[in-house]
Amino acid sequence: MVAVPSTAPLNVTLRVWRQAGPNQPGKFVEYTAKGCSPNMSFLEMLDVVNDELTLKGEEPIAFAHDCREGICGTCSCTINGKPHGPGKAIATCQTYMRSFKDGETIVVEPFRAAAFPIVKDLITDRTAFEKIQQAGGFITARAGSAPDANCLPIPKGDADRAMDAAQCIGCGACVAACKNASAMLFVAAKVSHLGLLPQGQAERDRRVLAMVTTMDEQGFGSCTNQYECSAACPKTISHDFIARLNRDYLAASLRSAFKPEAASSEGGGA
Ligand code: FES
Repeated sequence: MVAVPSTAPLNVTLRVWRQAGPNQPGKFVEYTAKGCSPNMSFLEMLDVVNDELTLKGEEPIAFAHDCREGICGTCSCTINGKPHGPGKAIATCQTYMRSFKDGETIVVEPFRAAAFPIVKDLITDRTAFEKIQQAGGFITARAGSAPDANCLPIPKGDADRAMDAAQCIGCGACVAACKNASAMLFVAAKVSHLGLLPQGQAERDRRVLAMVTTMDEQGFGSCTNQYECSAACPKTISHDFIARLNRDYLAASLRSAFKPEAASSEGGGA
C-alpha cells in the first residue's frame, strides 16, 4: 500500500542568522512559522514570515533567489547544517515544507566560507566564483549559428560527461560543505565541461592554469578528498571531475614549463 503524504499544516520554529551588513556582528534570531502547507516551498515559507515581519514594521529576512526552479544557483543557504537543506540533488528553492516535521526547529544560515563574505542575513557575495569563471570559463572561437549535429562528431561518452559537468549552477554548496572551503568541484566542472569538447581544446591549457590560479587567489582552501562537495551538490556533480582537473592541471603545468608560449595560446591532448 502506498503511504499518502500528510496534508496537515505544520508549525515550525526558525532560528535564522541575522546580520545587518558585511562588517556587522550577526546572531541567530527565532521566529515562528505557523500553519505552513506541506506543499509550500521553503522560500515561500520565508516569504510568509517576511510578510508578517513587514506588517509588524520589522526588517524582513534578506535571502537571495531568482529562478526558484533549481537553475540559477542563487538561493544558497544552509538549512539544519546542510547546504540547501535535507533533500538530495535539489537546491533550497526546491525544498518543500513536507521535508520537515511539525514542531521542528529549523536552523537557517548563510553559506560559510571566507571567500563568500556575508552581504546581509542569508545573502553571501559569490563574486569569487565569477572571477574564476572570467579567468577561463569560455572559448574565444567565433561560434556562429548552430551547426548540424553531425558536422562535429563527439563520442557519446564525452558528450554525456561534458553535459554532466555543464549542469553546475555555481551555487557554492560544494564550498559550504567542504571543511576546507575548497572550490575544486566547481572549478573541475567548469574546466571539464569545455575541456571534454572539441571546441574547448584550443584554450585547454590556458583555461585550467588561469582558473586554478584565480581559485587560489580568491582564498578557497585545498581539496583533501572528503567528497562532501559532491554529496551536497544539488546537481550531483561527481568528484571524479576533480581527478580530471588535477590531471589537466598537471599536464598543462608541465607543458607550460617546457614550452611557456604553448600554454598561453594552445591546448593539450585528449
Ligand atoms: S532560486 Fe534559482 S536555483 Fe534556487
